[in-house]
Amino acid sequence: MKLLSVVGARPQFVKLAPIDHAARAAGVDHVIVHTGQHYDPMLSDVFFDDLGIAEPDVHLGVGSGSHGVQTGAMLSALDAVVDAQRPDWVLVYGDTNSTLAAALSAVKLHVPVAHLEAGLRSFNRRMPEEINRVLTDHAADLLLAPTQVAVDHLADEGLVERTVLVGDVMTDVLFQVRDQVAGKPSPLVAELGLTPGEHYVSTIHRAENTDDPERLAAIATGLGGLDKPVVLLAHPRVIAKASAHGIELTQGSLIAHAPLAYPDLIAAMLGSAGVVTDSGGLQKEAFLLRVPCTTVREETEWVETVELGWNVLANTAGEIAAATARPRPDETDAAPYGDGHAAARVISELQVRA
Ligand code: UD1
Repeated sequence: MKLLSVVGARPQFVKLAPIDHAARAAGVDHVIVHTGQHYDPMLSDVFFDDLGIAEPDVHLGVGSGSHGVQTGAMLSALDAVVDAQRPDWVLVYGDTNSTLAAALSAVKLHVPVAHLEAGLRSFNRRMPEEINRVLTDHAADLLLAPTQVAVDHLADEGLVERTVLVGDVMTDVLFQVRDQVAGKPSPLVAELGLTPGEHYVSTIHRAENTDDPERLAAIATGLGGLDKPVVLLAHPRVIAKASAHGIELTQGSLIAHAPLAYPDLIAAMLGSAGVVTDSGGLQKEAFLLRVPCTTVREETEWVETVELGWNVLANTAGEIAAATARPRPDETDAAPYGDGHAAARVISELQVRA
């Protein structure tokens, strides 16, 4: 079987790692295409190096732009690649502009498309990711759902016949890296001279939190007012928006820091008092590590983390302070995100249909 993966943004490199390993173990010819959506080394190369992913076979070097410009540049570059490679499957990941562009290119060239992490919904149509997810699911031939909730959403949209529940591949990679870093000191804690267990790890980058200067300023002030140091692992988007509007990302308890490599991020979360984020990946990683999470959004796709008490949605400074100070949730052995073997299941589902 020949499989062509299209990736471009940081969370997709994390998901690609277990897929690349499982593909190689199964003797699959795996071609990796990097769109170039994320190009900073700390958002891209470091994941390939640390997670043992093969070098991309093709790099489109598309870079930044408005949604239309970025997605359109990918689309026009991908047609030639998909046509030249003619794989048995194109695999697209998650909900970024790279996902939508690749799904659209492949489906129109009549190459079968599988969508990994299908069926997630926020039901917030102002999120670019929500539009990307819905359109990708409806274009794709095979929907690889991470959770039963995702399967139910796809059934509601009439897509159940194309759907398979495989579990979440981020669980695969997280468990492996957790076991590698467990018991070792966190490099971030050492670098900043923090007391282990006495800091929060934060990431804020979503358009709905960064594009409106009032909202971003309120979040920065809220984080700065928390009871322990808050290390903001600042994505280029939040740095750019904060500097354009004169908003300080280091104030009070808030300390801005460069993004971390994946193992260092997991170590920093494991040794923390909690996570404050608007990232989908971090909400789930916090749950899997059993670190309390506070999500700075109006809704989440990962509803299981909230239902099980490990994640609380908070938007105002007061809500964020109350959520981070809450008592530790009840322990649970629930495993809504699978058993850590999702990638092998993905590869075998693709192989039986190739
Ligand atoms: C993208 C995804 C989002 C995902 C996030 C993970 C879409 C619509 N959004 O958002 O779902 O959670 O990645 O990080 O695809 N930039 C750099 N260096 C880079 C990459 C980006 O400086 O390596 C700057 C760009 O110039 C731009 C901003 O960051 O100003 C946003 O980048 P973009 O890739 O458009 O979207 P993200 O916000 O990263």
